[in-house]
Amino acid sequence: MSGFSADWLALREPYDGRARNRDVLQSVATAAAEGHTVAVVDLACGIGSTLRAIAPRLPPRQDWRLVDNDLSLLARAAAGKAIPGIAVTRIPVDLTRDLEAALDGAVNLVTASALLDLVSADWLDRLVTEVAARRLPFYAALNYDGRVSFEPADPLDAAVIAAVNRHQQTDKGFGPALGPRAAEAAITCFKAAGYAVVQGSSDWHLLPRDHGIQRDMLAGWAGAAREIGAVSLPEAAAWLTRRRDLLAAGRSTITVGHVDIFARPIGTRAAERSQSKSTSSPSG
Ligand SMILES: C[S@@+](CC[C@H](N)C(=O)[O-])C[C@H]1O[C@@H](n2cnc3c(N)ncnc32)[C@H](O)[C@@H]1O
Repeated sequence: MSGFSADWLALREPYDGRARNRDVLQSVATAAAEGHTVAVVDLACGIGSTLRAIAPRLPPRQDWRLVDNDLSLLARAAAGKAIPGIAVTRIPVDLTRDLEAALDGAVNLVTASALLDLVSADWLDRLVTEVAARRLPFYAALNYDGRVSFEPADPLDAAVIAAVNRHQQTDKGFGPALGPRAAEAAITCFKAAGYAVVQGSSDWHLLPRDHGIQRDMLAGWAGAAREIGAVSLPEAAAWLTRRRDLLAAGRSTITVGHVDIFARPIGTRAAERSQSKSTSSPSG
């Protein structure tokens, strides 16, 4: 068990699907269109939401390797009807231990959704090193960036979200987490590794009708703020009650900030091969 329930991942999937940044997705699709078949490794796949979100934009022949350390989520990943042309393998891997094994073999795209904010700076560095050593493109979507706004506002919102953002930086299994700094850190690392990076926002815009997800988010935030100790129990409880009352009255709107990135090695292997042929061929 990873602490992420299949119900929660299923609840957020349609919001993630709508939020994914279209320009970033288009860059992924354009890069993948260069190949005949695309072989994807989805790191921390959960119940397979990334596959469902991006497979329609990739070439028709796809080979997906879904990786997670939570066997119950993996069992749910791609458990539905087979999609013609798409082969799926599910592999249990603890990414803190066996990241390198997850990336080995035939791969030409690495994906990860809602993962990078959970990982540490050291693990991110290891990931970028391994991805760059294989010259693989990397699509990382839905990285929480710390921006949350409420409408209508409550006097305690800022204190709760500041506490949540501190909680986001505690250890989520990979060492002290990057939390809201994840996308920025990944962009810096990939650029330093010689990658071109496209980025764009993928915010959730939760409307008053989005009851279920708002309820879960509010409860999670109150709990996290309480746990980190920055907000007292009576304050957190009172804040939660006020926000739930607004939700019940059909008056609650919440925006949650995310950033998507697509990092691509500068110069494709094919371009480099043809360049090295032309520079090494006899000139006469
Ligand atoms: C927020 S969920 C995202 C799931 C999925 N990518 C999505 O977008 O719905 C984080 C995922 O990371 C996985 N995870 C956490 N720690 C892991 C580890 N050490 N190795 C492999 N997967 C891990 C969890 O099991 C969970 O599926």
